[in-house]
Amino acid sequence: MVTPEFAANLSLLSAEIRRQVGVLVNRKGVVEYVIVGTREGLQLPDFKRIRTDMRRFRGLRCLHTHFGAAGLSQEDLTDLSLLRLDAMSAIEVDDEGRPGKIHTAHLAPDFKSGGQVALEGLWQLLPPTDVHSLQLDFEVLIRDLEAEFARHSPRQWSRESSERAILIGVTTGRVDEERERLDELEELAGSADLEVLDRFVQRRPRLDPRYLMGQGKLQQIIIISMQLGATLLVFNQNLTPTQARAICRQTDLKVIDRTQLILDIFARRAKSQEGKIQVELAQLKYLMPRLVEFDDALSRLTGGIGGRGPGETSLEVNKRRLKERMDRLEDKLEAVRQSRRQQRAQRQRKGMPKVSIVGYTNAGKSTLMNALTHARAGVEDKLFATLEPVSRRMRLPWHQEVVVSDTVGFIRDLPAELIEAFQATLEEIEDSALLIHLADASNPALEQQVRTVERLLAEIGLDHIPSLLVLNKADLLDPDYRLALSRRWEAMLISARDGQGVEALGQRVQALLAGPETQAPLETATNGLRAAEPQLKT
Ligand code: GTP
Repeated sequence: MVTPEFAANLSLLSAEIRRQVGVLVNRKGVVEYVIVGTREGLQLPDFKRIRTDMRRFRGLRCLHTHFGAAGLSQEDLTDLSLLRLDAMSAIEVDDEGRPGKIHTAHLAPDFKSGGQVALEGLWQLLPPTDVHSLQLDFEVLIRDLEAEFARHSPRQWSRESSERAILIGVTTGRVDEERERLDELEELAGSADLEVLDRFVQRRPRLDPRYLMGQGKLQQIIIISMQLGATLLVFNQNLTPTQARAICRQTDLKVIDRTQLILDIFARRAKSQEGKIQVELAQLKYLMPRLVEFDDALSRLTGGIGGRGPGETSLEVNKRRLKERMDRLEDKLEAVRQSRRQQRAQRQRKGMPKVSIVGYTNAGKSTLMNALTHARAGVEDKLFATLEPVSRRMRLPWHQEVVVSDTVGFIRDLPAELIEAFQATLEEIEDSALLIHLADASNPALEQQVRTVERLLAEIGLDHIPSLLVLNKADLLDPDYRLALSRRWEAMLISARDGQGVEALGQRVQALLAGPETQAPLETATNGLRAAEPQLKT
């Protein structure tokens, strides 16, 4: 680790100049850097962080003096982690320049199975030893450590191709509510094929304009993301372009927010021409202001010399291209919509009433659609499997035909850009005679999800269409809970998957479509909740 002579020399020097002195030593024992600090501390050189291969250390250990008998400081340990040093040691020095004990820490391969890593478990402190009786064989220690890190790696680095993410929620409100939101974010992340390694929630009196969260917390997250081998941070709150860039710079990781995550899922899922165009438009719209900001920053950098910097010019070009692309997409979208309208008019001429299934994402809309029409559309246990309305004919028990539209899933706090993207898609259900509002009865957030859908329907001006609340996934409920549900909700209970109640639903739809006298129950059905009952216990 260090010879007593070297420790003595370093200590003498330190006392002479009354400053901490540090060295970075490579594995051959050669000093690569010398750092002179103040009496209280010293700052290590600004290395580029090693990000890709977490199995290795930097091959440098840091050794520095400090006055008095304190051990390693928090900064020492942070540096050890951030720079992935082989080890960090501090040698006690008195004012006469005599070395005392040496305190050493190294990184610990503490990968807990749940993916949750406590900060304290990230490093291992060795017992303080007198520099003259130090017996540690450093070469052996570091070799064993690297081998151990490599052994732990398969779980962490098994899927090299997919992104490994850490989810972050920052709130000024309640922590438990934010945790719930992170549950949903985690589901979204799963739909985007992200591997979630860990999650963090921070409560703050107010959001930090620069990093959203506090800088100390951000540093913690950097350390843990390095330890776990994360490649991506996903924020549950929308980041301003400036915040995204600042966090990106600070952490050296890819940074996205909830909107971008949803957009990414949309982009993977869109299948129809219309869906693809809409998603691309939404993505470009999201990108635009970010480019503009970037452009501003560049103008500031290049503005001083009067002319336009080369960077600025190319950004101008990029922006113009983006704008052109968006215009072209808008035109294409209009053409697709036109042909949709014609199809719709045709259907109306034939007098086929339309029934649309709406509902929170993952409620089972595609499954119900299949059950109703005896067909199989892509049913996946992933959020947003359905991105654009699929229309199919359904034969009702009395041989009357209706068209059933399977629409996109709704989701809480849908970003404004996306409501717009949805809106065009939802035009398809505008001329429905009836909406089947399907909800997942097995979801603890049932009530909230029903409300979200109702609110969104109102927001996009579709709340005038009669709607029938149907609770799905009855097969997952125990009898007591079924009873509580039926007391609480004025709604049909079905299981789209095993067909329970689906036929009855067909008959109910038929009855509702049949005539104005059957419209009355619809009004109550729209409300869904039984008025006088106590709150649903979940
Ligand atoms: P989005 O397209 O994301 O809006 O989803 P969706 O509402 O169309 O849901 P989908 O039909 O894709 O079903 C989502 C998941 O719920 C799938 O795994 C289904 O198998 C499951 N599911 C649907 N209906 C039932 C049901 O009655 N019982 C149970 N246990 N699972 C169901």
